[in-house]
Amino acid sequence: MNDLQGKHFVLGLTGGIAAYKAAELCRALIKEGATVQVVMTEGAEQFITPVTMQALSGRSVYTSQWDAREPNNMPHINLSREADAIVIAPASADFMAKLLHGRADDLLSLMCLARPRADSVQGGAKEVPLLIAPAMNREMWSHPATQRNMAQLAADGAHMLGVGSGFQACGETGDGRMLEPAQLLEDIIAFFQPKALSGQRVLITAGPTFEAIDPVRGITNLSSGKMGFAIARAAHEAGAQVTLVAGPVGLATPRGVTRVDVRSARDMLAACEAHTATADVFIACAAVADWRPAAAAEQKIKKDGSGATPTMAFIENPDILASVAKTERARSGQLFCVGFAAESENLVEHAKAKRLRKGVPLLVGNLGPATFGQDDNALLLVDAHGVQQMERAPKLQLARALVQDIARRLQATPATATAATTAATTAATART
Ligand code: C5P
Repeated sequence: MNDLQGKHFVLGLTGGIAAYKAAELCRALIKEGATVQVVMTEGAEQFITPVTMQALSGRSVYTSQWDAREPNNMPHINLSREADAIVIAPASADFMAKLLHGRADDLLSLMCLARPRADSVQGGAKEVPLLIAPAMNREMWSHPATQRNMAQLAADGAHMLGVGSGFQACGETGDGRMLEPAQLLEDIIAFFQPKALSGQRVLITAGPTFEAIDPVRGITNLSSGKMGFAIARAAHEAGAQVTLVAGPVGLATPRGVTRVDVRSARDMLAACEAHTATADVFIACAAVADWRPAAAAEQKIKKDGSGATPTMAFIENPDILASVAKTERARSGQLFCVGFAAESENLVEHAKAKRLRKGVPLLVGNLGPATFGQDDNALLLVDAHGVQQMERAPKLQLARALVQDIARRLQATPATATAATTAATTAATART
């Protein structure tokens, strides 16, 4: 997937040791399909050379407002008008202080001041957003002047990317490190996604559960968690506040998502119950074990050499989705519930039946063996009106489409109408 295909960036570097990370960011942007024009301040040139940035971006670097290459001698206008965004990484404390005051004594600050803003664009012209990735020592970062400047820059329309925390080049430890290139890339990609779930709180379950047999063994399944994690990322990109309740998987947490790690179905239920009172959307994507051993042995079950095999009794796990869908908030339409069905055959029939059984307005079907562990998937959306197919595609692409679909449903279905749908579903369930 090339998430930035066709996008053009001005990548601005200012004076900071994190400038070395800008080299990798430049590569990462290009790998995602973007083109990059690098602009460097005099300070940045102390840390990394324009030669490096030229080689990586494939374009000669601009460092001066007096650069005579532009026929009209206005690089600050020409370069910014071509861009879909200006990204300053690293942004030094000094450079941010300068921007705040509208100073413009070098090409990069001049360009930032001259960028068309959302509140200033004219006619068919487009806004050129300004994304700022600060980088500095922890004392400089926490200084009230820096914090004040950043708040004001955000109020003036800049998009402030966060900072990382940890060991710093100066030898101190704390906040202020520039985010890693991969993190910046994820945030830049997210910036361009439509904010269809802005202000919504989304609760998602993902991955398998693990039901203990004894302290070293257990029952689980082949769910990789990739679909649920992709939905969490897509929901966050769409502007939602996301809580991801994850079974045991080794996947990285999507940027900006709050993750709660759980093991068993009962843990997952408890974690969900702790969040349903404040959620607006619940997406149950986890492959929850249907049964668990009736009693987990306290110590490892040992072979005794006789050839005897242990017998095991099972007990049914709570159905998290069905129980959340029965809550007052879900029934009144305040909590929109979405279920998943991983089947191995007869997807349409099973998905339709499962939607009614679970009592949810939307159920997403997929074929388990064809999707578990894969990076792509195909989805079937089943609601009260029928079935809609989402063709095979990367999971993140499907997750984004699903999130937009859910957002449309939320807009089209105010709480009272959802309540009516849920009531109809419940009545239909009673009849089946
Ligand atoms: O009943 P089945 O497991 O096929 O249903 C799948 C849907 O129900 C998924 O959305 C899954 O996350 C959810 N589920 C659940 N708790 C269970 C079993 C399934 O939330 N115990």
